[in-house]
Amino acid sequence: MAQEPISLDRALDSFAEQWSPRIVTAVNDYDVRVAKVEGEHVWHAHDHTDEFFLVLDGELRIALREPSGERTVVLPKGSVFTVPRGVEHKPHAPVPTAILLFEPTGTVTTGDRHDEVPAHVDTTTGHALG
Ligand code: NI
Repeated sequence: MAQEPISLDRALDSFAEQWSPRIVTAVNDYDVRVAKVEGEHVWHAHDHTDEFFLVLDGELRIALREPSGERTVVLPKGSVFTVPRGVEHKPHAPVPTAILLFEPTGTVTTGDRHDEVPAHVDTTTGHALG
């Protein structure tokens, strides 16, 4: 497949749906995805993979249920964080936010186990760029 450079700004401008990642490229067997997010996602966990977040714009908060208790990490624009495999987490964005995710191809946005998925959250392995 011929590869051309991809503008993340243009990729983000090409869709409006929240919590519905687009796959911008792949690295070996990992996807690079971008998503627009605002408000709450859903508690979920990925049993077989870590999940990498980079905040491109806005602010992402990720609630975590760890063995020592629950805490929330705050990621301003330009921050990265990796949720370890198996850890229940719930992303939340207090303002319109753009994120980049790096995770194995086929990883489902709502994980291998999750609370009831609200209507505004897309359960997907990522959509192709339009
Ligand atoms: Ni996740």
